[in-house]
Amino acid sequence: MTFFVTVHVLFLVILIFVQDVLCLRNVRLTIEPNIVQRGSNSTLHCSYDLENDDVLYSVKWYRGRYEFYRYIPSELPIIKTFPFKGINVDEKNSNSTQVLLKDIDFKISGNFSCEVTTDAPFSTGYDRRTMVVVQLPENPPTISVEGEPLDYGDTLRANCSCPPSKPQASLMLLLNNLTVAKIQPSFPNKHENPLWSDLPLAMTLAEEHFNGGRLILRCVAEIGEIYREEAVLKLGSVRDPVPERVSAYSVGTFCENSRALLQIITLISIMSMFS
Ligand SMILES: *[C@@H]1O[C@H](CO)[C@@H](O)[C@H](O)[C@H]1NC(C)=O
Ligand SMILES: *[C@@H]1O[C@H](CO)[C@@H](O)[C@H](O)[C@H]1NC(C)=O
Ligand SMILES: *[C@@H]1O[C@H](CO)[C@@H](O)[C@H](O)[C@H]1NC(C)=O
Ligand SMILES: *[C@@H]1O[C@H](CO)[C@@H](O)[C@H](O)[C@H]1NC(C)=O
Ligand SMILES: *[C@@H]1O[C@H](CO)[C@@H](O)[C@H](O)[C@H]1NC(C)=O
Repeated sequence: MTFFVTVHVLFLVILIFVQDVLCLRNVRLTIEPNIVQRGSNSTLHCSYDLENDDVLYSVKWYRGRYEFYRYIPSELPIIKTFPFKGINVDEKNSNSTQVLLKDIDFKISGNFSCEVTTDAPFSTGYDRRTMVVVQLPENPPTISVEGEPLDYGDTLRANCSCPPSKPQASLMLLLNNLTVAKIQPSFPNKHENPLWSDLPLAMTLAEEHFNGGRLILRCVAEIGEIYREEAVLKLGSVRDPVPERVSAYSVGTFCENSRALLQIITLISIMSMFS
């Protein structure tokens, strides 16, 4: 009885020992950045500790199950790259511990892994991380409005739109801090190309919507945790104690600027009519 238990324990110890030897520990892959703007670069770093007598045999890099880069110091050439659509390895900046990918394309979003193998004694280990390729909007969102100046009972019609991105931006319209509309595109979006985000609004205004007579419309565009921009517009209000139409502040609101320009042009043409 005790003999069998001893054998069992011994077997377990051997098993653990063998695993220890066969499994190279501390292989760690980091992707910097791991959320990548399309067309930019990312460095994949594979760190590993070689024990005293370990000799590095190979470091192999995979996208999914496809090998795209191999480092074997005992072979010539030491570095081999294998073509994969969308993966551009910058060999000058790649070596036994890192690979620089440049001009990154949407297609390569997915799992990357590095696999390290040592010779005499043989052991191997690997690690995996995910890379997500995105395209952020080139400009902040813009707001356009119809029907100003607005009064109690009027319908406020507005649109907020955000330039193409992938994944599509979520949009939220707030009137005096009250959320009045929002849209949350499905994430991740299945479309091939970056898409515009648009959020229309049509609402009947009641007295309670006017904050001391003022109407401030804000549009917030967000993509996950990586992007947040907003546009702010002070709307023309009949109830406004300070009625001149000036924006509170804005972040690249093109529509607002073109509106202001239009007002100036109108003013100039009216003035020239009287001169
Ligand atoms: C990407 O890396 C290349 C070198 O391979 C460099 O010339 C280029 O400036 C880098 N691009 C960015 C956006 O960092
Ligand atoms: C690999 O290249 C990077 C950048 O060129 C460098 O910082 C790093 O020390 C290199 N690693 C090895 C093991 O040569
Ligand atoms: C990446 O790996 C995870 C974990 O194994 C898996 O669930 C996921 O489907 C993989 N993604 C791709 C694109 O293969
Ligand atoms: C909002 O967008 C819709 C559809 O694109 C358009 O018909 C409408 O005139 C726009 N309204 C404003 C205020 O820009
Ligand atoms: C809107 O909300 C922010 C914070 O949530 C607050 O600081 C601000 O005073 C509010 N503005 C108005 C007009 O209620």
